[in-house]
Amino acid sequence: MNIQTLLSDKIQQAMIAAGAEQNVEPAVRQSGKPQFGDYQANGIMGAAKKLGLNPREFAQKVLDQVELAGVVEKLEIAGPGFINIFLDKQWLAENASEALTAVNLGIKTEKAQTVVLDYSSPNVAKEMHVGHLRSTIIGDAVTRALEFMGHKAIRANHVGDWGTQFGMLIAYLEKMENEHASEMELSDLEAFYRAAKAHYDSDEAFAEKARGYVVKLQGGDEYCLTMWKKLVDMTMSQNQLNYNRLNVTLTEKDVMGESLYNPMLPGIVADLKAKGLAVEDDGALVVYLDEFKNKDGDPMGVIVQKKDGGFLYTTTDIAAAKYRYETLHADRALVFSDTRQSQHMQQAWLITRKAGYVPESFSLEHQNFGMMLGKDGKPFKTRSGDTVKLADLLDEAVERATQLIAQKSTALSDEEKAAVIEAVAIGSVKYADLSKNRTTDYVFDWDNMLSFEGNTAPYMQYAYTRIRSIFSKTAVDFTALSAAKMQLTDDKERALALKLLQFEEAVQTVVKDGTPHVLCAYLYELAGVFSSFYEHCPILNAENDVKLSRLKLAKLAEKTLKQGLDLLGIKTVEKM
Ligand code: ARG
Repeated sequence: MNIQTLLSDKIQQAMIAAGAEQNVEPAVRQSGKPQFGDYQANGIMGAAKKLGLNPREFAQKVLDQVELAGVVEKLEIAGPGFINIFLDKQWLAENASEALTAVNLGIKTEKAQTVVLDYSSPNVAKEMHVGHLRSTIIGDAVTRALEFMGHKAIRANHVGDWGTQFGMLIAYLEKMENEHASEMELSDLEAFYRAAKAHYDSDEAFAEKARGYVVKLQGGDEYCLTMWKKLVDMTMSQNQLNYNRLNVTLTEKDVMGESLYNPMLPGIVADLKAKGLAVEDDGALVVYLDEFKNKDGDPMGVIVQKKDGGFLYTTTDIAAAKYRYETLHADRALVFSDTRQSQHMQQAWLITRKAGYVPESFSLEHQNFGMMLGKDGKPFKTRSGDTVKLADLLDEAVERATQLIAQKSTALSDEEKAAVIEAVAIGSVKYADLSKNRTTDYVFDWDNMLSFEGNTAPYMQYAYTRIRSIFSKTAVDFTALSAAKMQLTDDKERALALKLLQFEEAVQTVVKDGTPHVLCAYLYELAGVFSSFYEHCPILNAENDVKLSRLKLAKLAEKTLKQGLDLLGIKTVEKM
């Protein structure tokens, strides 16, 4: 049930019947204050102005036409011409009741789209770092929300698995294998990369071999490809451990690395040249874009092929956009990466569009995000100034959660404790990121994220266990609960039912805008509304009918909270 959509449609129809044009925007929003109703229509004034009518008179005409009998209790014209909408209690109760027993909490899926989600995207023979963390968890939450709303999500882990550095990496892997005889394990990727680089810089024979391997690899040499594949597999099997720990849905099947596009690049560059988009400039091929200016105010040049014949990150992203439309038949492609890559993405996509590779209707969206900062406001680093490895960060989260839970949850068995620690540790790190508007930088602060107060994972997880505990104290079966009548006599009951029915609106926003923080904010509010309901409305000691009705509300709150946290990839536990 999407109340906002329902009200929008009905008010729009009434506005049209009252003389407004077909695509008039009723601008129905949730109200900020209860005295303004549950929802408000803010589009009346604008539409009246277009028609040359007095807004309040036009509002009255809309009310004369609108068909919302049974849905609303009353509609009021307010101020210069707002319409305040007060929903009918009975209607709320019936819909909340239905949501409890319906599949997917009664949420109707949208017209299914195919959506490519390019997220996580670490680099081969490099450790995943905190920058990849943001991409991984935000991207995964949006993916889950899309699937929940009935869309087809194609996970595309755009791994950096191609480039000239592979000559050096292959040469070094070969050296390691020769020296150690056995299959080597790439347990410290960062050290491996550094050592390879050190050899490359200091050992001329090694460097020459490395350069030879680049050429061979690009020419499809079997030995080099096998070595390359080993590097990719070793890196990805380690990254997979991070994904598993993070409760992220990516698997090895989702790897669609840069190498996938490599064979397409010569054709694309030739085509850009034939179309007159790419021009030769000092041996390189460059696309000049009027839409972007360089520091002299001239059109900015984007290199698509280097003088030495090599292709670039941009060339690959042009090919990826084309492939996602043409071959994967996607309606949308979302890339989750750092804001610092925004200009790069926009340029690649502008070239893609200019070349006519994708139609206007195909949506290319950079779901950009800001930086993770330390408490000092500077980019998040270790004490020694190194970038923080994801695996180390998660270890620390577990350590801190262990201490926290040791103090708090003394009544739990060891097994229960372990589950709580895991859920809280990983949940805190993820939730801290997901709950912030992704476009702004955010401060990574252990104490905040592990707090049981405020919009945090432990608070949300605890709120869930509180609802669960109600059901551990009473034996009602779900059938009896489903059959019982829901009645909303108390304001707190009504507020809870309304909030519960707004779940879909929050999920839809996440799907549309790639903003999991909207769902976090919704769940946090829901937990608050539940809390005040629980304080004011006794459940277990109430009369039988009232008790069942309140249990129904509590059950729907439990399911909604769990489903919402699940869409965010946050685990819940039964007891804390
Ligand atoms: N591998 C890149 C990095 O580590 C991120 C890739 C983002 N996706 C893309 N299609 N460019 O920064």
